[in-house]
Amino acid sequence: MAVDILVGLQWGDEGKGKIVDVLAPTYDIVARFQGGPNAGHTLEFGGTKHVLHQIPSGIFHPHIINIIGNGVVLDPVIFRAEMQKLTDRGIDGSKNLFISRKAQLILPSHKFIDRVQEEALGENKIGSTLKGIGPTYQDKIGRFGLRVGDILAADFKERYNTVIERHQKIVGFYGKSLEIEEAERDFFSAIDYLRTLQLVDSEYMLNEAIAGGKKILAEGAQGSLLDIDFGTYPFVTSSNTLVAGACTGLGVAPRHIGEVYGIFKAYCTRVGSGPFPTELHDAEGERIRKAGNEFGSTTGRPRRCGWIDLPTLKYSIMLNGVTQLNMMKADVLDDFEEIKVCTHYILPSGEKTDKVPHQLVDEELTPVYVTLPGWQTSSKKVGEYKELPQEFLSYLSFLEKELQVEITIVSVGPDRVSTLNKPTVEVLE
Ligand code: GDP
Ligand code: IMO
Ligand code: MG
Repeated sequence: MAVDILVGLQWGDEGKGKIVDVLAPTYDIVARFQGGPNAGHTLEFGGTKHVLHQIPSGIFHPHIINIIGNGVVLDPVIFRAEMQKLTDRGIDGSKNLFISRKAQLILPSHKFIDRVQEEALGENKIGSTLKGIGPTYQDKIGRFGLRVGDILAADFKERYNTVIERHQKIVGFYGKSLEIEEAERDFFSAIDYLRTLQLVDSEYMLNEAIAGGKKILAEGAQGSLLDIDFGTYPFVTSSNTLVAGACTGLGVAPRHIGEVYGIFKAYCTRVGSGPFPTELHDAEGERIRKAGNEFGSTTGRPRRCGWIDLPTLKYSIMLNGVTQLNMMKADVLDDFEEIKVCTHYILPSGEKTDKVPHQLVDEELTPVYVTLPGWQTSSKKVGEYKELPQEFLSYLSFLEKELQVEITIVSVGPDRVSTLNKPTVEVLE
């Protein structure tokens, strides 16, 4: 099959950027299919850390084509800054990067509306990254949006003004007036820059590549529990983060889908508001945050931390049809005496379930934990999977048994090199 897809199975920040970068050399194309600058994908190699927001994580491999697909919402200003950062580091992204003409544009007014809508929600705020994601997708679905291809039209400015008039009315509803003059100047100069790049009908490009026997890796953003349909609504993002989103977000048919990499942390984090059944509000949570350096790659906000949650993981695996699991940040648990795994929830009725209730409400369920012994030794320097400590291997086999999918990759550090592949022939007890 031509298209493999990598998706996060939790609430984002699982380490997608790192693994896409590691897997990229075996692909011809890496493509982003949804989300926008709300994403922050970190890659580390050669002693340097890179954070990408909209540019696919295959960009550091010059022979690989990188595509920003139609399902993405693109902020031209942030995009130009990302490209500049790459240039500063000696990487000319303009040669191997292609942008769909059908990708939606994030306008300065979308960011303004995002802020106004969040403020109006008060205590019920989503915890948005305030990058204009929700309002841009609202305009897309409402059929008001501007797309990358529109910037080539002679009447782009008039179309822009029409959208702004509407946005003025929206913020007027909240008793505000748009304050975006400076941001608009940046926006239009970034649009001029965007016009110089390779704007394409990426659905044709991708399908021609498939017909020509090329291999494509689709890079998900956010996580399955932030999916607009199946996530912890309304505390979600505004796109389909699941595998299905890759079909609509790239224009590839389901029959072309091959492997589905499901990526998760050895524990669990969330940034922003919303339910999180296994969240730790105590010193243990703080310990994970510190060991895992759990601060947002996009906003710098401290991430909420807790134990791994199998009911939600099983749910994500089911929805995505995951064929291989990748466990990230296992080294963060190196010093822990005990590791807890939530296997079930007890509902108010007393029922014990491993299914995710229609509305996940922390106060309405009690997590049931199994406690496993920690390995209490550094996994960071382990060079091969089979050299992992016994307790570590037991943790992996416990999870594989519960989740019924093999964990083929284990990550024990942020760098490319700290990646262990499960041997395919050996049977591990
Ligand atoms: P993404 O959004 O899924 O790409 O993940 P982020 O980049 O937002 O967050 C993952 C963070 O964990 C980044 O700071 C990575 O450098 C880091 N990271 C990735 N894998 C590992 C790992 O195995 N161990 C440790 N300690 N850090 C990791
Ligand atoms: P990556 O790709 C973690 C969260 C926000 C907020 C909610 C809605 O790096 O894993 P939005 O800005 O989309 O309207 O915010 O979703 N969120 C993320 N959390 N990682 C991300 O991306 C996220 N993108 C959005 O914190 O709770
Ligand atoms: Mg991230």
